[in-house]
Amino acid sequence: MNIPLLGVNIDHVATLRQARGTDYPSVLEAARIAEDHGADLITVHLREDRRHIQDRDVTELIAQARTRVNLEMACTAEMLAIALSHRPADVCLVPERRAELTTEGGLDVAGQRALIEPFCRQLEAAGIRVSLFIDPELDQIQAAHECRAPVIELHTGAYANAVDDQRQHELQRLATAATAAESAGLVVNAGHGLNVSNVGPVAAIKPIREFNIGHSIIARALFIGLGAAVAEMKRCLTSRPVA
Ligand code: PXP
Repeated sequence: MNIPLLGVNIDHVATLRQARGTDYPSVLEAARIAEDHGADLITVHLREDRRHIQDRDVTELIAQARTRVNLEMACTAEMLAIALSHRPADVCLVPERRAELTTEGGLDVAGQRALIEPFCRQLEAAGIRVSLFIDPELDQIQAAHECRAPVIELHTGAYANAVDDQRQHELQRLATAATAAESAGLVVNAGHGLNVSNVGPVAAIKPIREFNIGHSIIARALFIGLGAAVAEMKRCLTSRPVA
């Protein structure tokens, strides 16, 4: 049986805290509530500009999470040093531009293999499972495989933003990419822009093992509470037809 896992991204709990420079809402408490309501892992993105998650959040989460922590980070020397000293279970390498509102596209692994491959090697040597966040394109999957990254995360943003026929086209791209990556021996995850209304068709793509979802869960939590929002998303994932 292949039930997808839910990684709850709690960056935006920290966004709310940083907006006022208070010590609440607590990301640790958010992680605990998410775990109590079905999160299989906790995901955070330590951005270079520290706009939401702070270094101490990463330290505390890794020490206290009951599940596992997936640290999203850019390919920089600073982030590599942080990952190697904190040793989260997983690191997802993402592209990062300072002015962007969120991670806008996937990593160009095919074009930046010389940069990315050494990151994969060093993280792997520290016992950290590396995932590369890529667009659903075959050349990027091939490049990820060549870098010997064990995991990819498919960027679902284009699917989430698409309308009408384009959405079906983007869904097909995700399905094709997921199947190709699984055949190449890669673990396939997915995320970005997913919510309770659009996640169903992506959750039905069998090779996708894990979903990392943040903004929509935290937004929904404002009205129904974080525990209920996590549980609701978990139900959307676990109701996919079993293979
Ligand atoms: N996966 C990755 C690699 C991301 O960078 C993000 C955004 O931080 C997400 C998943 C979650 O995206 P969203 O907040 O749109 O659910």
